[in-house]
Amino acid sequence: MNLVILAAGQGKRMRSAHPKVLHPLAGRPLLAHVVTAARSVAATLGQAARLVVVVGHAGEQVQAAFAADPGLLFVAQQPQLGTGHALLQAAPWLDEAEPTLVLYGDVPLVQPDTLVDLVRAAAGAVGVLSVRMADPAGYGRVIRGADGRLVRIVEERDADDAQRSVNEVNTGILTAPTARLKAWLAQLGNENSQREYYLTDVVALAVRDHVPVVARVAPDPDEVLGVNNKSQLAQLERIVQRRHAERLMQSGATLADPARIDVRGELAVGADVFIDVGCVFEGTVALADGVRVGPYCVLRDARVGAGTELAAFTHLDGCQIGAQARVGPFARLRPGAQLEDEVHIGNFVEVKASRVGRGAKANHLAYLGDADVGPRTNIGAGTIVANYDGVNKHHSQIGQDVHVGSNSVLVAPIRIGDGATIGAGSTVSHEVPAGGLTLARTRQVTIPGWRRPTRKAKA
Ligand code: UD1
Ligand code: CA
Repeated sequence: MNLVILAAGQGKRMRSAHPKVLHPLAGRPLLAHVVTAARSVAATLGQAARLVVVVGHAGEQVQAAFAADPGLLFVAQQPQLGTGHALLQAAPWLDEAEPTLVLYGDVPLVQPDTLVDLVRAAAGAVGVLSVRMADPAGYGRVIRGADGRLVRIVEERDADDAQRSVNEVNTGILTAPTARLKAWLAQLGNENSQREYYLTDVVALAVRDHVPVVARVAPDPDEVLGVNNKSQLAQLERIVQRRHAERLMQSGATLADPARIDVRGELAVGADVFIDVGCVFEGTVALADGVRVGPYCVLRDARVGAGTELAAFTHLDGCQIGAQARVGPFARLRPGAQLEDEVHIGNFVEVKASRVGRGAKANHLAYLGDADVGPRTNIGAGTIVANYDGVNKHHSQIGQDVHVGSNSVLVAPIRIGDGATIGAGSTVSHEVPAGGLTLARTRQVTIPGWRRPTRKAKA
């Protein structure tokens, strides 16, 4: 089948420098949601899909954003003279032996099942997806004759009062036999308030040519909401997030407030996961059974093991945490941080590209970068690994059962033997042997009877 997504409009009402279809919804561009839905329709119908995207306003930007997807054929519409004119630009690439389904780049929540029903119901006819809305303002109205059959679609700006009172609206989504469709597109006029070639006028042409027109009413008005301004974008964002929240709760997660969670990627949860308010999940995140996420945490591309607790304001990015660990509050795990089971990472501790062994602890104000920390080792408050010499990053090897005293600097590259103890305030830059106590600081001295300087009398 032919699938066309119209995405050339500027989206003036967004009042934005960015093309409308690239605005993110749940972390992905609006257009990406429509592409996913289109592919899913073709897959369900078992058909090979030719996917054409009509771009115009900032078209290069839109195309560049999808450069990684070789399955899309981009067609330019220049200038943008309306939805009918947009589809006309795609016409040469549409296979006349197969029907065409037209989707709008700014109607991102449409459900594949709804589209499949429309295509099946239309077979050989024109199919229009409509919906009843309590407040139809801004949408084209579906005008039916006395016999209930569809006669035409009237844009709100061109509608009279009687037509405006109709609450069945056009979603913009339409399917038609391709050869017919091409002929109608060539006959569209622009005698309307916007001087545009409206795709919606195809309906009246089909009626004129006695081609049956079926209108399917979408089951849920939410799925066909269009994004024309920032307020609608925010409204759709909440709808998507509510869907995510429902799915998470169905999988057994407890959400402190399903209205205060943001999933901008894929979040998988085990049983009895608890997520407090204000958390943001990006990329691919997996939380095993019993994980507890405190308020206002940000998790991107992370795997968290069973029973682990992330306290408030924890920031995870590209890391892996084992079971029964405790992280945060105010902890930051950067790419390549790998914590084994029962590790404790406390407040204001940053870990980057480091493996931290089972049961090891860094509870306060520390930095571990490019290090391998053995099991049960304790990193004292204020300790940092000086992994960067200003040019290169160096690796550190810290053994097991090591005790690093507070406020130490471990100058990389360095090796610290198993069971070593490093005295507080040490700066170690040579290998530390196993077992003993290593001190690398000046000895404490006291000068008895020392007198503080006194203020000199002014001359
Ligand atoms: C359109 C429909 C309206 C429907 C509504 C549903 C027409 C004439 N009107 O109105 O009946 O109720 O959608 O959301 O079709 N586009 C182009 N090239 C253009 C103009 C638009 O590619 O020259 C694209 C836009 O990028 C957008 C889509 O077509 O993705 C719809 O355009 P928009 O201007 O938002 O149409 P609406 O006024 O919302
Ligand atoms: Ca629109």
